[in-house]
Amino acid sequence: MTGAAQTGVPGDLAGHPRTPDTDTAVLVVDDLVVEHRDRSTGTVLRAVDHVSLRIGAGESVAVVGESGSGKTTLAMAATGLGTRGDGAIRLLGHQLSSISRARLRRLRPEAQVVFQDPHGSLDPRQSVRSGLRELRRLQPERTSWISDTELLDRVRLAPQILDRYPHQLSGGQAQRVCIARALLMRPRLIVADEPTSGLDVSVQADVLTLLAQIRQSTGAALLMISHDLAVVRSVCDAVYVMYQGRVVESGPCEAVFATPRNDYTRELLAAMPGARWRSRR
Ligand SMILES: Nc1ncnc2c1ncn2[C@@H]1O[C@H](COP(=O)(O)OP(=O)(O)OP(=O)(O)O)[C@@H](O)[C@H]1O
Ligand SMILES: [Mg+2]
Repeated sequence: MTGAAQTGVPGDLAGHPRTPDTDTAVLVVDDLVVEHRDRSTGTVLRAVDHVSLRIGAGESVAVVGESGSGKTTLAMAATGLGTRGDGAIRLLGHQLSSISRARLRRLRPEAQVVFQDPHGSLDPRQSVRSGLRELRRLQPERTSWISDTELLDRVRLAPQILDRYPHQLSGGQAQRVCIARALLMRPRLIVADEPTSGLDVSVQADVLTLLAQIRQSTGAALLMISHDLAVVRSVCDAVYVMYQGRVVESGPCEAVFATPRNDYTRELLAAMPGARWRSRR
């Protein structure tokens, strides 16, 4: 395990048995099925259909696919935040199906999610400073490693930002605050669900560069959900292509992008905005 894990992450579930794969995989999803029930009609929709996925320590893995293909459902189930579903999920060596609520609560800080809409992720009534104070109160040991100003510096924000409220932040600044809040927890897995698609084009690259830098400097693994294949290619080692809840193709980014084997992947590559990179090479 790299980075934070080597140095002993505060709040680690020390003393609890782990499975042997712990040292090599941050997340192992095996044959996951997740269904949503439409409350008004009672209809059941299978959003994730027998998906398997593996993220090694420090690895950067992308999930791509059209809208509604199940990417967010997969990410939320895999981190224990969403509908659980059937199948095995091992997060940092812990089987989510058999973990107690108390243990899951302690495990959660290890997997931080950065959402698409940064303003929606922040409490509008809290200044950046009081939001960080709240996180520190909930996780005092885990968060004591860095001061507020140094934390903001890590995400290239000036200390004055601490006294701002979310509505006083630009989209890019708000997303940096969200990344700072995730970073504060010293996660071993960062899930970024379309982290730049709600932002102005001019700041998208900066935020992605920041995520990539944070991944490198902390050794955290990254699960990146994106529509933009240029983003995926620049940030990720491996890619999983989802279509109607299933993974139709997966492998190292370069291999999948250069010689896609699946028809849907080919269509996606041709249709996605990121496909532009191919003609520019
Ligand atoms: N809470 C829910 N209740 C009912 N159906 C849901 C719920 N969440 C998602 N779905 C449905 O499950 C399917 C997968 O949704 P999901 O949000 O995982 O897709 P996605 O790939 O993340 O899409 P997008 O790219 O638009 O974010 C969709 O058909 C969606 O309508
Ligand atoms: Mg989604």
